[in-house]
Amino acid sequence: MKPIILDVDTGIDDALAISYAVNAPEVELLGVTTCFGNVTVQEATRNTLLVLEHLDSSVPVIPGAAKPLFVSRVKASATHIHGEDGIGNTLTNMSTREASKQYAPQFIIDQVRSKPHQVTIITVAAMTNLALAIMQAPDIVGLVDKVVVMGGAVTRAGNVTPHAEANIYADPEAADYVFASGIPITLVGLDVTMETLLPKKDVQVWRDKQTALSTLLADMTDFYIDAYEDFYPGIGGCGLHDPLAVGVAINPDFVTTKPLHVRVDLDGFHSLGRTVGDLRSKPANEPNMDVCLEVDAERFLEHFLSKVV
Ligand code: RIB
Ligand code: CA
Repeated sequence: MKPIILDVDTGIDDALAISYAVNAPEVELLGVTTCFGNVTVQEATRNTLLVLEHLDSSVPVIPGAAKPLFVSRVKASATHIHGEDGIGNTLTNMSTREASKQYAPQFIIDQVRSKPHQVTIITVAAMTNLALAIMQAPDIVGLVDKVVVMGGAVTRAGNVTPHAEANIYADPEAADYVFASGIPITLVGLDVTMETLLPKKDVQVWRDKQTALSTLLADMTDFYIDAYEDFYPGIGGCGLHDPLAVGVAINPDFVTTKPLHVRVDLDGFHSLGRTVGDLRSKPANEPNMDVCLEVDAERFLEHFLSKVV
């Protein structure tokens, strides 16, 4: 079992990613760290605890950053996609479980140091927690197994601006700091996540199972699919952004990658937060990550659906 840390801003697709990671026998979830993004960090923590309670999982939830490293440019809200509560307006009760008293960046440092060269960190939110961890403990760069980042759009349009993807846009400086740190990264961007669409018919299968977990996930995912349909008319499903990052950590063969040098645009008026990949035949710099450019969506979806509920 591969030890993983999942860094989330729960969020509907985050909730699906958590359920997938808890149920997949290939990985051992050491902890779920939370960050601002789709919702505030407090709401992300609350939603994460609720999902884990439905999973009957005692995996620790460790709250992290409430704001970006340097500048707050965007409101922590994506209510049009994830609902007022971040989980498709399904929130009726609070989890009885409590979050850890630790701070997410410290948890990341402790786990990586205690299991050198073993831990995969999967970030599916703003990259602030990981940036803070590296700033405080640069040695973890050489001690992680790898980092799988759901973020960016190297070869296609963004989703919050014409060029920027939400997780990178939420804290561009944090993302760029991590990209430049030398930590081994696989970038799972919109390039591939927009190819993994979940249609309503699969959600109906969860609904038919009639468990507390399957009903919760079905209710929030139907909201998410409706939001996608509003945003991208005719798309026929929702993007499985965060679950695909977990899928790539489980089985890198789900995707085809290319080593590229990628940095984040930090001062572009129209392109703030854009992930700029050097796609030239003779790039000026060595690659700093593997960028996913193709995905075997059918194989990934089959695995995801067999584990998520
Ligand atoms: O752009 C998609 C990403 O932004 C996902 O992680 C989603 O949960 C939001 O955080
Ligand atoms: Ca997310």
